[in-house]
Amino acid sequence: MLKRLSLIVGLCVAGAALAACDEKLSTLAGPTPGLEPTFSSIQRDIFESTDSAGRSACTNCHTSTGRTPAGGINLIHDVAYDQLVNAPVRGRVGAIRVIPGDPDNSYLIQKLEGRADIVGRRMPFNGPPFLTDGQILIIRRWIAIGAPRN
Ligand code: HEC
Repeated sequence: MLKRLSLIVGLCVAGAALAACDEKLSTLAGPTPGLEPTFSSIQRDIFESTDSAGRSACTNCHTSTGRTPAGGINLIHDVAYDQLVNAPVRGRVGAIRVIPGDPDNSYLIQKLEGRADIVGRRMPFNGPPFLTDGQILIIRRWIAIGAPRN
């Protein structure tokens, strides 16, 4: 299943202008049908939105509005990119939240997938629901193509 999804994301990102591909990408995006592998889309559809599956917006907790951002990470739009890309992890010395070109070693992905060796919990902290495999693949794709500020 994951392999097939990877193929779809790979193909569709390469040919994003093709209508057929857009359709498949939106299937992959599941409860956030507009999700694309760009930072602005991830920001809008994942970080700042509660989706139709009932998954919390990250910015319910990761905000500086009225509180100290949970985990020392603020995902509000003006600062989210710099809080993630090449930024050190608070909970683990030496780890980086998003390493352009390297989704496997990006701590953001490890936290979203709930890898066994993370510090603290799988995100969102109050899940399930967590992100779907398809949503995570689209975020992985954005990192794989260099995590552009787009
Ligand atoms: C209900 C509150 C809550 C929600 C919603 C939430 N988080 Fe968190 N997050 C936390 C807390 C608390 C921590 C610190 C404890 C831990 O890591 O388990 C944290 C830690 C993190 C860290 C680790 C930061 C570091 O440097 O150690 C990342 C990355 C992260 N969250 C990303 C996300 C993303 C992306 C989402 C949305 C998909 C999300 N979180 C949703 C509360 C939340």
